[in-house]
Amino acid sequence: MGAILVFLILSIFASPATSQFQSSETGFISAVISEKGLVFVKDLLIENAIQTLTSLTLPDIHQSKKIPLIGGVSASLTNITVYHIDVPCSTLQPGESGVVVAASGVTVELSMNWKYSYSTWLLPIEISDEGTASVKVEGMEVGLTINVENQNGTLKLNIAQCGCYLEDINITLDGGASWFYQGFIDAFKDKIRSTIETTITKKIVEGALKLDSLLQTLPKKIDVDKVVSLNVTVVNGPLFGNSSVEVDINGLFIPSYDGTVLRYLNKNSQLSDFCGGEVKMLEISLDEAVFNSGSVVYFQAGLMNWLVDKVPDQSLLNTASWRYLIPKLYKKYPNDDMVLNITLSSPPIIKVRTKNIRVTIFSDMIVNVLDFGVAVPVACISVEVLATGVPEISGNNLAGSAQLDDFTLKLKWSKVGNFHMSLIQGVMRIFLNTVFMPYVNLHLRKGFPLPIIHGLTLQNAHILTSTSKIFVCSDVASNSSSIMLRSF
Ligand SMILES: *[C@@H]1O[C@H](CO)[C@@H](O)[C@H](O)[C@H]1NC(C)=O
Ligand SMILES: *[C@@H]1O[C@H](CO)[C@@H](O)[C@H](O)[C@H]1NC(C)=O
Ligand SMILES: *[C@@H]1O[C@H](CO)[C@@H](O)[C@H](O)[C@H]1NC(C)=O
Ligand SMILES: *[C@@H]1O[C@H](CO)[C@@H](O)[C@H](O)[C@H]1NC(C)=O
Ligand SMILES: *[C@@H]1O[C@H](CO)[C@@H](O)[C@H](O)[C@H]1NC(C)=O
Ligand SMILES: *[C@@H]1O[C@H](CO)[C@@H](O)[C@H](O)[C@H]1NC(C)=O
Ligand SMILES: *[C@@H]1O[C@H](CO)[C@@H](O)[C@H](O)[C@H]1NC(C)=O
Repeated sequence: MGAILVFLILSIFASPATSQFQSSETGFISAVISEKGLVFVKDLLIENAIQTLTSLTLPDIHQSKKIPLIGGVSASLTNITVYHIDVPCSTLQPGESGVVVAASGVTVELSMNWKYSYSTWLLPIEISDEGTASVKVEGMEVGLTINVENQNGTLKLNIAQCGCYLEDINITLDGGASWFYQGFIDAFKDKIRSTIETTITKKIVEGALKLDSLLQTLPKKIDVDKVVSLNVTVVNGPLFGNSSVEVDINGLFIPSYDGTVLRYLNKNSQLSDFCGGEVKMLEISLDEAVFNSGSVVYFQAGLMNWLVDKVPDQSLLNTASWRYLIPKLYKKYPNDDMVLNITLSSPPIIKVRTKNIRVTIFSDMIVNVLDFGVAVPVACISVEVLATGVPEISGNNLAGSAQLDDFTLKLKWSKVGNFHMSLIQGVMRIFLNTVFMPYVNLHLRKGFPLPIIHGLTLQNAHILTSTSKIFVCSDVASNSSSIMLRSF
């Protein structure tokens, strides 16, 4: 236990606020790993460390000694192999600029071959013996202090301290006259101890470096589709709280191709406890600017255009259905089929509110008549749709669905005379409910990936909304078959 304290204290003093990354930018997506989440991370790390260290082979130990009257005795320990590790107690503690991972009461069991030989002037032959031995280390303490900082938008790990200390080891020789050599083997204790200490320390440092290179390979953007990517550049943090760690990422959607950078008003974020009383491992907050940036990128890519030539009640797309409401249309194009060309006139606006999400969609609907197969535009109606959205989690994606609230219609131009919008209000409501909203929902249901490390999945996720922000509170499970830390 003492060593844990030492490591904690070292970490607090040895890392005097190493140039905490200060950014003028603020992230629009923040992720807070709670105490429960840190325990999960710690267990994952320890489990990986145990897996790597088990079946580890330590360097051979050779030692020679001159013994008076007898002469030079040389002994060696080979095939020193770890076959069991038990970590009964471990902690992960956020410090000033990093985290301290400590394990105590660790038991390590090793097996090895021993051999010694000597030749003396007394006898003409070499005397030697060999056998196997088992080594049990009890009460080992291991500590690792890692500083984490934001370097050019990715997290960088630096090992500030790594130590391994074992109090005592117990070597048991197997085989016939082995009791006779026990004393001799015990002379090796210090050498075995330091070999174990340095090898385990080295392996843990190697593991931490692997973890760092894993972080370095994390992309700065996640492609959602051919059009948009999510900018996951780290802009702020990691900010270490007493028992949690927060990382803020840019979090705005950007074109998948290199394009204009969107600018949004920055809002301040703080290490927060937005999931209220709920104890979840991970808390992700997404500003409404995230959704609006996606809306702008899709809009700028010119993809918000849609031709409708099929509706549930197909007769609505024939001028005959409109002969009483818009007589001029029928007179000019009797019994002609129609196609609707719907184009968004500006990016949809998304507002996150305490109870729900408000979406306003601005579109122009051009009514085309198919006159002998040629589409002739006859009128344009601007349609402003107000919808209410509900976010949901689907796998690791944030998705949602929306429902029509209200809409307004305005005739922009017409080649078939003026007609009153109130006349088509009813038909329009049916159209929006049966064609337009299902189409919107088709896209919303896919959603976009939340920035979660590959191999981890969200579990028991819960979504809360407040003014301008969506909070995802979730536990995380590792898909142990694909977790990347395996190669410690
Ligand atoms: C080394 O030790 C391992 C584990 O105890 C054992 O499986 C292996 O056969 C040993 N190799 C030699 C050459 O003794
Ligand atoms: C950060 O990125 C810039 C530009 O890509 C590069 O010149 C600089 O060396 C990087 N700094 C570090 C510490 O990697
Ligand atoms: C060493 O291990 C042996 C066998 O497990 C046990 O009998 C003995 O008490 C142990 N000695 C110490 C000092 O732990
Ligand atoms: C962190 O711990 C310190 C000392 O225990 C305490 O003064 C401070 O209020 C704590 N901060 C938070 C955010 O809990
Ligand atoms: C991604 O975010 C970073 C940090 O906010 C910013 O510097 C960078 O320009 C963004 N990338 C794009 C393509 O917008
Ligand atoms: C649909 O309308 C848009 C915008 O008015 C126009 O650019 C596009 O060519 C039209 N598409 C068809 C197939 O009429
Ligand atoms: C784990 O990952 C594998 C391969 O990616 C996948 O087939 C499997 O369904 C995943 N399991 C879980 C529980 O997510």
